[in-house]
Amino acid sequence: MNIKKYRIGNPFTTEATVIDIPIERELPRYICAEDSKISIKLPLENEDIIYGLGEQMGGINKRGRKYKSFCSDDPFHTEDKEALYGAHNFFVVSGKEKTGCFIDFPGLIHWDMGFEKTDEIFISVEGDSADIYIIEGGSEQEIIKEFRILIGKSYIPPMWAFGYQQSRWSYPNKETVNRIIEGYEQAGIPLDTVYLDIDYMDNYKDFTINEKSFPDFKNYVKELKSKGIRLIPIIDAGIKCEKGFDVYEEGVSNNYFCKDRNGNDFKAAVWPGICCFPDYLKPEARKWFGHKFLSLTDMGIEGFWIDMNEPAIFFSQEGFDSAVEAVKAYNGEDLDCWKYFEYRDKFSKLSNSTNDYKNMYHLEGKINHYNVHNLYGYMMTRGVSESLPKNTLLFSRASYIGSHRYGGIWTGDNFSWWSHILLNLRMLPSLNMCGYIYTGADCGGFNGNASRELLLRWLQLSVFTPLLRNHSSIGTRNQEAFAFENPQDFRDVIQVRYRLIPYLYNLAKNCAENAEMMFKPLGFEYEDKLSKECDDQVLLGDEIMIAPIYSQNKTGRMVYLPEEMTFYKLSGNRVSYKEKMNKGLHHIVVELNEVPLFVRKGKKVPLSETAKNVDSLDTTVSEYLEG
Ligand code: NOJ
Repeated sequence: MNIKKYRIGNPFTTEATVIDIPIERELPRYICAEDSKISIKLPLENEDIIYGLGEQMGGINKRGRKYKSFCSDDPFHTEDKEALYGAHNFFVVSGKEKTGCFIDFPGLIHWDMGFEKTDEIFISVEGDSADIYIIEGGSEQEIIKEFRILIGKSYIPPMWAFGYQQSRWSYPNKETVNRIIEGYEQAGIPLDTVYLDIDYMDNYKDFTINEKSFPDFKNYVKELKSKGIRLIPIIDAGIKCEKGFDVYEEGVSNNYFCKDRNGNDFKAAVWPGICCFPDYLKPEARKWFGHKFLSLTDMGIEGFWIDMNEPAIFFSQEGFDSAVEAVKAYNGEDLDCWKYFEYRDKFSKLSNSTNDYKNMYHLEGKINHYNVHNLYGYMMTRGVSESLPKNTLLFSRASYIGSHRYGGIWTGDNFSWWSHILLNLRMLPSLNMCGYIYTGADCGGFNGNASRELLLRWLQLSVFTPLLRNHSSIGTRNQEAFAFENPQDFRDVIQVRYRLIPYLYNLAKNCAENAEMMFKPLGFEYEDKLSKECDDQVLLGDEIMIAPIYSQNKTGRMVYLPEEMTFYKLSGNRVSYKEKMNKGLHHIVVELNEVPLFVRKGKKVPLSETAKNVDSLDTTVSEYLEG
């Protein structure tokens, strides 16, 4: 392996990597460790492209922006955001020379990727200890492969988890879930799962079921399974503090919860009100928490999504009290605009505050949470995955490299915005680089109201992503495919997914097995300038290029072909269009009920017949798309 490992100080063991690499004796000149901080400076040539950083805003090329690694519960994914839910500290600089860099550090990192100085990367790590891995030589794909081998094999769920999935915050009772399933059945649209968001629980308490809304849950799960539908419940990171609630009582008596600075259980509010937070860094605690899931798998549940595990904190009592005190002091004052802003911020800044993270401790008070913040979701995912039966679907919101071995991730609370279709596409290669293969966005957008056109265009991308889930927030319009005019258009698009499932599933499995990427930037395969700069098309496997439409009121778009390819449009069970196209720029037109894709020269894409769900899918090849 062409990897060099540098150790500074005495780093906290993250278990992000699975291979032991000898530590170099001397630090290279570009790494500086001084005054309890570590910094890295790397020069950038004009033509250098920066790939990576996993779940982040920005383009496929991460150059020219600042980012942070600090798992954040932030539902507004606007262009200026520097951190989302994951912390994925790996990037590759690609120019004449190619270099990969992974910073194994679980706290806050600032990344200036050529923002202040256009010819320099400047990284500052908020801590005095870290492992830094540098991978040099070879192509981007070779560097990434070395890295992926270093961090271990990616998680892949069972094949049914590649089916079309429907979610909403919330389907609060059995009647609603039944109505959703009937809606799909009547419209003839395939469906594999329905998600249960927090309202299926009794007062948002993990591992409880609201008996009134979901009576006889076990039989209900069975009844749906017989129709080919799986129910996927959510589990949140925090446990409601409530006397008599067994999960809470067990956590307290076994010392499984994180502590505060005084050695008491750390408490803060999330959905159920005041919660305690299992110390997932403690092996016994994460095992205990993971085993709690078995009460649900015993009832026939085969998949979970785990949420709020950055951890998201609405407020702590301490934060709330100090905000109230501060606000009292303004009472009767003639507030000018600055005082008003200060006053307002006292409350708006209560959530996910650094003060609270600094008052939270792991491992019997030995480790301050703030310094290892990015491990929380990872270790929760790990504890759950290690306890679940093999072949259970699992994906998380928060993540750190290493968690890719235990579960997938979804990319959190996006919006029904056209720009978020593009963001979804751009994140795919960088997530793959960091080990996340089973991943996808909330198709149609979580916040805001999706139009019919937006959902159809988004689906034209999502039919290629391993996780294909339509999820939307409380207070938004109904976003199920059958809830829009002319649901047959949705059927035509979603049916294409089922034709592709055997191909996509094998590809995902092979990418996990061989440490390869499922989605690649064009610049990884083609050397010309347009390919290097292309930010709205990606390669899928070795066979396909995708170029979805991501703008409103467009019947088509311009597509760049870096070599001769065959353009196909698929609709329902048919190939609706086929054209050989030369290298160069082309304008393509795509109806709302079609899925566009390009097959590379000399390659073949197998399709099967569509199906109403994965259980009834015949995976034999019915035809090939030839390039
Ligand atoms: C936040 C998650 O990101 C979202 O998907 C979910 O619907 C809400 N929590 C409610 O559970």
